[in-house]
Amino acid sequence: MALIEVKVPDIGDFSEVAVIELLVKPGDTVAVDQSLITVESDKASMEIPSSHAGVVKEFKVKLGDKVSEGSAVLVLEAEGAAALAPAPAAASAAPVAAAPAPVAAPVAAPASTGTIEVRVPDIGDFKDVAVIEVFVKPGDTVKVEQSLITVESDKASMEIPSSHAGVIKELKVKLGDKVNIGDLLAILEGTVASGAAPAAPAPASAPVAAAPAPVPAAAAPAAATVSAPAHNPTATPALGLPHASPSVRKFARELGVPLAEVKGSGPKGRITQEDVQNFTKSVMSGATQTLAQAAKVPAVAAGGGGSELGLIPWPKVDFAKFGPIERKELGRIKKISGANLLRNAVMIPAVTNHDDADITDLEAFRVATNKENEKSGVKVTMLAFLIKACVAALKKFPEFNSSLDGDALVYKQYWHIGFAADTPNGLVVPVIKDADKKGVLQISQEMAELAKKARDGKLGPADMSGATFTISSLGGIGGRYFTPIINAPEVAILGVCKSQMEPVWDGKAFQPRLMLPLSLTWDHRVIDGAAAARFNAYLGQILADFRRVLL
Ligand code: COA
Repeated sequence: MALIEVKVPDIGDFSEVAVIELLVKPGDTVAVDQSLITVESDKASMEIPSSHAGVVKEFKVKLGDKVSEGSAVLVLEAEGAAALAPAPAAASAAPVAAAPAPVAAPVAAPASTGTIEVRVPDIGDFKDVAVIEVFVKPGDTVKVEQSLITVESDKASMEIPSSHAGVIKELKVKLGDKVNIGDLLAILEGTVASGAAPAAPAPASAPVAAAPAPVPAAAAPAAATVSAPAHNPTATPALGLPHASPSVRKFARELGVPLAEVKGSGPKGRITQEDVQNFTKSVMSGATQTLAQAAKVPAVAAGGGGSELGLIPWPKVDFAKFGPIERKELGRIKKISGANLLRNAVMIPAVTNHDDADITDLEAFRVATNKENEKSGVKVTMLAFLIKACVAALKKFPEFNSSLDGDALVYKQYWHIGFAADTPNGLVVPVIKDADKKGVLQISQEMAELAKKARDGKLGPADMSGATFTISSLGGIGGRYFTPIINAPEVAILGVCKSQMEPVWDGKAFQPRLMLPLSLTWDHRVIDGAAAARFNAYLGQILADFRRVLL
């Protein structure tokens, strides 16, 4: 037994390429030429095969690391003398014509529109390679370097890019055709330099020299690429690699699609972009489960943590590729509230009912109250009345003031109302304790103090705990309706938006009334739709005539 460090072989002009996939893990037995990792530059991705057979002991790289020729990939425990012989294939795994040749220099003005022949550029030793994918069709507009077709030999596949920009007039190849250097691929209508005659049909005029070199798709030997198995949630994922071009791999990675589970419909089971799209649609519609989902769902159903959801990975996108970016770490409050919101959104079967309350008279009373109390310095906002009105509704519908505890429902005989407060650092929820025992003026005063503490970052845990129900008011800002997320372990939350004058039919005529949009989100495990509609209707009645609170 000997320990062998497997290194990145000669990969042409590629250096400092990112590791985007680890294809094996410690403990795996690998064969000579078996792909170990995938690396990707901005032009191509390629798989790095093992130079030896053996058992993977330790990885020397991780996802995101940059590697070059000679970088250590992993340590293998070789399985005997025979295994020690380096595989000749490893070195030759370097992509042919790996370095893209410079794109044709911009043609000096003046320029005119004409036909251009796009031909197969120098693709190294590749001869009679089969066209296995055609990415474009007549009428498509293509850019310089946009991939037109994929060709495949028994060693690798590569995408052939367009040497020019323009509109495809004619495609000269079809699936299954065999092509060689100089073969005509397509006729484009595009901009050509004046003086440079529009490309004639003769091969001599083909812009081969100007063509970017092909993009190597998979430098790994053919043995490393096998057809993907048909999707079967109970099957163990195949160890072999799915057969797909770099652009399809990249597309799948961005969507978080596990390529090994996608059934390829292309030649030799090759996975096309359409296969990835169809797989995504199927997972989204629930018709297909990914292996990860199939393995994890029972844990979630049994009340497992949110991390056990078995969702497909978050799409990893290099945003900088599309434009300038700035990266800022999330603040502490955002991190904490984000984790809570995610858990609550995912774990609660929540439904939202929207309704409107007529607050015309209440608003007049509020304005009058504020006028009377001008000197006291306490300003009453609609939210204070809402807190009081919600307490009355919670008393009438006690399940809204409860919490789930396993199979039991805990009914709380206190009414502590949380209110979402927007602060420069993020959302916090201070709590008005015993709101049932307090008047609107006292609630207004406490709210103002708590909101100030929140904005100053001075709220303590005691200020933010014990709520039995929460109100999230965007009334001072605007909007019509929204779907607030329940603040677990509470079972309901009221979202409030900006009131506005609306014409309301009173049976004889339209009357101008001040209407307040209400959005009640509730936990369907505890509350049903009829109860939610009744809660909202009752809340509306109270807000329309606050004397009902006394009843
Ligand atoms: N309709 C119309 N106007 C309303 C209103 C409503 N539903 N609610 C409040 N307003 C008015 C107020 O009367 C006040 O008007 P004025 O300045 O003319 O007197 C103005 O909007 C601002 O009110 P505000 O200071 O926001 O007081 P508030 O008591 O309504 O709310 C907070 C206090 C702390 C809750 C609020 O400032 C806040 O942070 N809201 C955001 C909550 C949030 O982000 N929720 C989303 C969670 S996802």
